[in-house]
Amino acid sequence: MPLYQPVSFINGQWEGAISGATFDVINPATGDVIEKVADLSAAECVKAIDAAQEAFPKWAVLTAKERAVALRCWFNLIHEHAEELTHLITEEMGKPLTEARGEVVYGASFVDWFAEEGRRIYGDVIAPHMADKRILAIKQPVGVVAAITPWNFPLAMITRKVSPALASGCTVVIKPSEDTPLTALAVCELASRAGIPAGVINCVTGMDAPAIGRVLTSDTRVRKVTFTGSTQVGKILYRQSAESVKKISLELGGNAPFIVFDDADLDAAVDGAILCKFRNAGQTCVCANRILVQSGIHDQFVKAFTARVVTMKVADGKTKGSDIGPLINADGRAKVEEHVKDALSKGATAICGGHIHEAGPLFYTPTVLTGVNTEMRMASEETFGPVAPIYKFDHDEEAIALANDTRYGLAAYFFTEDLSRTFRVYEALDYGIIGINTGIISTEVAPFGGVKESGLGREGGPHGIEEFLETKYGCIGIKP
Ligand code: SIN
Repeated sequence: MPLYQPVSFINGQWEGAISGATFDVINPATGDVIEKVADLSAAECVKAIDAAQEAFPKWAVLTAKERAVALRCWFNLIHEHAEELTHLITEEMGKPLTEARGEVVYGASFVDWFAEEGRRIYGDVIAPHMADKRILAIKQPVGVVAAITPWNFPLAMITRKVSPALASGCTVVIKPSEDTPLTALAVCELASRAGIPAGVINCVTGMDAPAIGRVLTSDTRVRKVTFTGSTQVGKILYRQSAESVKKISLELGGNAPFIVFDDADLDAAVDGAILCKFRNAGQTCVCANRILVQSGIHDQFVKAFTARVVTMKVADGKTKGSDIGPLINADGRAKVEEHVKDALSKGATAICGGHIHEAGPLFYTPTVLTGVNTEMRMASEETFGPVAPIYKFDHDEEAIALANDTRYGLAAYFFTEDLSRTFRVYEALDYGIIGINTGIISTEVAPFGGVKESGLGREGGPHGIEEFLETKYGCIGIKP
């Protein structure tokens, strides 16, 4: 039985567009059309909200344990179908199979974590302010949730949002990226096989993301919007959600600094930078966007780092040993090209790369640039590609000022062996996530999210479920 049908998933049924319209899902490595998927209009999206609204009271009234059993079954099914999901992710998104396999495990880990966390939603009994009063604060699910998800992690960004929503008793309408709807549909099919009832999880496919976003943010029955994507789109959704004062979580753009101090363990810093910069061909919000290296270790770092970069295999994600797959589309490639061109025109040097790769039009050669400065576009904008710009600095204060000189505040990284410096820098960096002597910070057990224009709220960890709960205060008068 196929893992998905190329249509929307509403109220436990596969639903095509009334008009019969479809859009193409394209393999970015080959340019081939993988599938034609139902292109629902914004008006048709209302059916998914109707279904989620109707399912909500029945799902919310279940015990946390009953919901946890269903989530656990969903987790098991994701693992049982890991190979199919892996290939689907690589095909529609382009990342190498090893990374896609990692994403399936990472994505499933949120289902497992929140199945457990759902059973630990506690309230408070508060010491009353008067002798004839008793005070309670209980937690209840917020209601229908709209989850608008990106293409760069087609599975994990869905489970990171949907699992805490479902565990807390909410129902969900997912709007996956039009670049990667197939993994989303497969995940819904597995949720249905796991016994998650019709209407609890719905998925609307459509090309007109702005119109669908408007419906999801304007319908008063949707009580929470959770979005991962660009800061520009996040601001629009935030504004639109204000009209009906929805709860909102936004995981938006980043401009991550990766700081290497003179006293860093060089090998560890190089390993960390490779992982952090080139994961998903540089297409993650927490990828190092600026590598800041102290002058005493700068030349050694550049040499050791470049020696690793030039060995990276650029190929279709399905090819054995591929390290770097294609960029998602022509717009993504154009941005990378423009950033590199701009940096070179303003005095940067390409130590390696700096051009399209012969593997195909969307493949970009892993690039190391030195002599980079704050006048270049890549200093203030997210490149979202396999380009590592290296800045040189002399003092800690200079590195911290450079690192914080951005409107973004998602992830930052630094490498040092000095304990006092560790605390000073950790506290001074204006970011929601700090990686210290590591280039990988993503895990289901920790609160992921940014400050400033990188977003609102946290996903994962014990904090992640709070985003889907309301606190209800009860004041009880008693006879003394
Ligand atoms: C993202 O790029 O938005 C998510 C990356 C992660 O979860 O590690």
